[in-house]
Amino acid sequence: MPSPMTASVSIDPEHHRGPIDRRLFGTFVEHLGRCVYGGIFEPGHPHADEHGFRGDVADLVRELGVTLVRYPGGNFVSGYRWEDGIGPVGERPRRLDLAWRSIEPNTVGTDEFLGWTARLGLEPMLAVNLGTRGIQEAADLVEYCNIAEGTAWSDRRRANGVARPHGVRLWCLGNEMDGPWQLGHKDAHAYGVLAAQTGQAMKLVDPTIELVVCGSSGRDMPTFGQWESTVLEHAYDVVDYVSLHAYYEPHDGDRRSFLASGAAMHAFIGDVLATADAAGARRRSRRRLRLSFDEWNVWYMSEFPGNDQPEPRVAPPLLEQIYSGLDAVVVGDLLITLVNNADRVAIGCLAQLVNVIAPIMAPPDGVPAWRQATFHPFSLTAATTGRSLVATVDAPELSTARHGDVPAVSAAATHDPETGAVSVFLVNRSDLEAEVTLRHPGFAELPLAVARTIRAADGDVATAGARPLTDLMGDGSATTLRLPPESWTVLTQAS
Ligand code: AHR
Repeated sequence: MPSPMTASVSIDPEHHRGPIDRRLFGTFVEHLGRCVYGGIFEPGHPHADEHGFRGDVADLVRELGVTLVRYPGGNFVSGYRWEDGIGPVGERPRRLDLAWRSIEPNTVGTDEFLGWTARLGLEPMLAVNLGTRGIQEAADLVEYCNIAEGTAWSDRRRANGVARPHGVRLWCLGNEMDGPWQLGHKDAHAYGVLAAQTGQAMKLVDPTIELVVCGSSGRDMPTFGQWESTVLEHAYDVVDYVSLHAYYEPHDGDRRSFLASGAAMHAFIGDVLATADAAGARRRSRRRLRLSFDEWNVWYMSEFPGNDQPEPRVAPPLLEQIYSGLDAVVVGDLLITLVNNADRVAIGCLAQLVNVIAPIMAPPDGVPAWRQATFHPFSLTAATTGRSLVATVDAPELSTARHGDVPAVSAAATHDPETGAVSVFLVNRSDLEAEVTLRHPGFAELPLAVARTIRAADGDVATAGARPLTDLMGDGSATTLRLPPESWTVLTQAS
């Protein structure tokens, strides 16, 4: 047997980045495939509630620990007429959705979605269409959602049976407007001007809202960096967050680079912060923008056959990827990266929530919803509260083709000063077992009692099994444990 690689991770309760914004553990529901129809919503399903939303899915959404949901797209929003989705359902138009070449029946619209998030206690994050539409339609939607009464759109909402305003606080100014695939795609100058003007109008309707401006739809985009700079020259003073999107997959079977995706995400965040802060410095602004990583996941996108379906129909099964233990390890590592950047990344959205590249699968024909392998690292990370501790890692470097040299072990830790709860998250990116010494001199007692581990070798039945920490060796200020090759582990208190 090869001898294990050794590494150390040091944490201290006084060395932290402040509280983690709970909105970091958000997800995304798009009118795409079976995410809405046949996903969260399926009237006639044995577990459907009186509104037609699936109770079995809602139970798993609660268990997942989701805090926020972005809606209604995604690429879908760039052709969406939100007015189609309000009022009597029987009078709503069926439209050809050009983003996914599907039929959109508009049975679920703004009021239905916001009713669902309210019942589940989730914060909604709505995107406005800046592809085929503009300032007026976006301002009207804010008026419809957030003004109490006495205006045309707020009175329409009340007439539609929603007496109290929805009070939507978070809004995205379009989606991936840098992408040539986007309906109404624009160059950075045109988008920056439109985003600034639309944001200004939306905040005139409701000054309490917060706005997310589109950053790049990936670090590999040819316009990356310049896009953010130009957009922020126009929109810096109006917006509150810059968006980032990233999907990771093994390219040409390069497993080692795939396992280093967390390091790539960390570099991406650093680049966007540098660009945003440079824009702030140029205007001598005292405000510093935060980030909204509002689409992230593992997605085998290169296997996606494209959306040119011969016969457009309602809710075709699209992007229904089945995830493996390996994918779950990478998702766990991406979460480690988000926690390690929690001082500047306020919002995160795992894309997406149900059926479409999702942690929850909702089969048809009354079959109960089930958890994918990626469900587990998300639910176990989202369950932690408190501050993001600085976890200092000393580990050998792994050399990767796509991301250069990366540490073989990654780590994050959280500490809740109110409850004393501590969690430590670890990924072994290498194909060797790792012996990790966790140093925690500042904690008089580190009440860690249970480890949950996912191994790439678990395949698509990976479930994050609990194991008591019988292999823990410690002297009070340090603890040593073994991590299997290519694995994700969380250490927490016994519950
Ligand atoms: O999440 C799937 C798609 O990926 C979204 O519609 C789009 O924003 C991104 O390119």
